Amino acid sequence: MLLSVEHLHKSFGSSLILSDISFSVDSGDCVAILGQSGTGKTTLLRCLNFLERADSGIYRFRDTLLDLEHVTRRQADAVRMHTGFVFQEFNLFLNKTVLQNVTEGLIVARRVPKDEARKTAMEALSRVGMTDKADAFPLSLSGGQKQRAAIARALALSPDVLFFDEPTSALDPALTGEVLSVMRTLAEGGMTMLVVTHELGFARDVSNHVLYMEQGRILEDADSHAFFTHPVTEGAAKFIDAAP
Ligand SMILES: Nc1ncnc2c1ncn2[C@@H]1O[C@H](COP(=O)(O)OP(=O)(O)OP(=O)(O)O)[C@@H](O)[C@H]1O
Ligand SMILES: [Mg+2]
Repeated sequence: MLLSVEHLHKSFGSSLILSDISFSVDSGDCVAILGQSGTGKTTLLRCLNFLERADSGIYRFRDTLLDLEHVTRRQADAVRMHTGFVFQEFNLFLNKTVLQNVTEGLIVARRVPKDEARKTAMEALSRVGMTDKADAFPLSLSGGQKQRAAIARALALSPDVLFFDEPTSALDPALTGEVLSVMRTLAEGGMTMLVVTHELGFARDVSNHVLYMEQGRILEDADSHAFFTHPVTEGAAKFIDAAP
């Protein structure tokens, strides 16, 4: 097991957004987090990476056991040393080249010497097919290229797990394929991934594990094939049927 949460709760003001969330993820899992808009998928992913603070719960990450109610900054940073996060809107620095975007975390956060950072970054860019764009600025790239650069930035830090929050939903349909194809290659290579997505084809074909959420709860936690062929709840069955 790489990570798990037990009894995670999260409110915004007086609204309970995540309620009693428990699940675990094995190394090499590709987990698709599915559900209607507003069910708390993004909030859950952000809590796992401490971009948002959960109110309570137990979080195990590798050998570390954290009480989410009392997590210190240092503990959160220690987890984040081993994770990468890919955002819907890429979040690239627009005034830096692709290569500079990818080396930034290595040089600043990890104190890797520049030459070595450059080498690591070029390897990461090669994994997403972007070495020829190393010196380009983000504004000159297509959405698919921007997202692949953002994936390379996360990969360069050698994470144990990658979190993706709807990585293709800001893209033109014609450009989603190149990003999904990179993600599929990563999953097939054994990268542990948690992917919030509305791309059910990707979830069905690439993920091995599905978490289906409704109103801040996990309604189904299943093997991916089982989920798509025999959903247990009526909500999940309707959700699958409604997909284009
Ligand atoms: N910072 C915030 N402050 C207050 N409420 C929030 C905040 N972020 C999210 N919410 C609320 O929490 C609920 C869950 O939001 P979340 O973004 O996690 O849903 P989601 O499942 O990712 O939806 P979508 O598929 O549309 O991205 C929503 O009702 C949303 O309005
Ligand atoms: Mg979301």
